[in-house]
Amino acid sequence: MKTINSLGDLTGKKVLVRSDLNVPLDGTTITDDGRVRASVPTIQKLLDAGAAVIVMAHLGRPGGEPKPEYSLAPAAARLSELLGQPVTLADDLVGESAAATVAALESGQVAMLENVRYDARETSKVDAEREELAAELAAFGDAFVSDGFGVVHRKQASVYDIATQLPAAAGTLVQNEVESLSRATTNPERPYAVVLGGSKVSDKLGVIANLLGKADRLLIGGGMVFTFLAAKGHAVGNSLLEEDQIEAVKGYLATAEANGVEIVLPEDIEVASAFAADAEHKTVPADQIPEGWMGLDIGPVAAKAFAAKIADAKTIVWNGPMGVFEFDAFAGGTKAVAQAMIDSDGFSVVGGGDSAAAVRRLGFDEAGFSHISTGGGASLELLEGKVLPGLAVLED
Ligand code: 3PG
Repeated sequence: MKTINSLGDLTGKKVLVRSDLNVPLDGTTITDDGRVRASVPTIQKLLDAGAAVIVMAHLGRPGGEPKPEYSLAPAAARLSELLGQPVTLADDLVGESAAATVAALESGQVAMLENVRYDARETSKVDAEREELAAELAAFGDAFVSDGFGVVHRKQASVYDIATQLPAAAGTLVQNEVESLSRATTNPERPYAVVLGGSKVSDKLGVIANLLGKADRLLIGGGMVFTFLAAKGHAVGNSLLEEDQIEAVKGYLATAEANGVEIVLPEDIEVASAFAADAEHKTVPADQIPEGWMGLDIGPVAAKAFAAKIADAKTIVWNGPMGVFEFDAFAGGTKAVAQAMIDSDGFSVVGGGDSAAAVRRLGFDEAGFSHISTGGGASLELLEGKVLPGLAVLED
């Protein structure tokens, strides 16, 4: 993979950087700035090398037109605080404001273009449309640095096409992410345990299929566990259930057995009378979820068992919370997994998205993990063993 050094002397050059600043917002307040913080080292490195930096990023899915609630203004403000220097946000992506902002930019300064998804060509399935936008963006700079790991699975103008039009390289975030996730997926030190949670089995089908040939243990929690319990013939009450995935899950259980992969399901479940922070709740055996109740977390026995399965693993990858960690009463499973990973001597990777947010929100020290990914879908697709277009295009 091409790195920033391959771009040569950057003094006085304008470098376009694709970052992933897709942060959760409450109004205009960033509730988890992890992705903004993760974007700083590459930008700082380019500034230190004498470049002027033009940041491109998306926020949410505005559907190809400008919508103020999807403005990058909060991300630009936070980036400015973290860098300790102004970050000028253009009013548009490739219009007059962007052109003027870029023209005024000098060595050591940072500008940001408005949300790349304000332009429908960014995500177009038509190559020529994406290429046209990429060319307009490329005209702003001398080189391109891909640092938005969370979007490298997207074949989009500011991620993929622009890399074919300018001297291009991976930023340090993308490099670190790929190194850490590859260490966990190619020849992992064993035992190799993977903890999967989150709400939907259907999001994780490819990952599960791939891991059944690689991992030694799969620990299943979160909303997706109820489809596993149903596949084993248990009633799940009002819990989240994907009936159309039950057959697929039965197939996974059979393959796991044939391959000698241990699938660890929770022995107990924390059930609630409603989906609410203050709902009545109790712990029940996983095969006895009462009618009318919904499972919102793995139970305390399961949390201990999961922690024990993590404790002696040499490689641990975790993707997806074990329960509705946003509600205190249902955060126990997620806390137990996070703590067990911190306590373990193994190589521990948190695979992005909700689990990374959970770690920070629950107050765990990020330094306790070997790697916390900024990618949600991107890290999952790497775990699936897929070729990611935004990485393939950076190969030497
Ligand atoms: C993410 O949040 O996982 C990335 O920013 C990608 O966002 P997307 O799924 O809207 O492409």
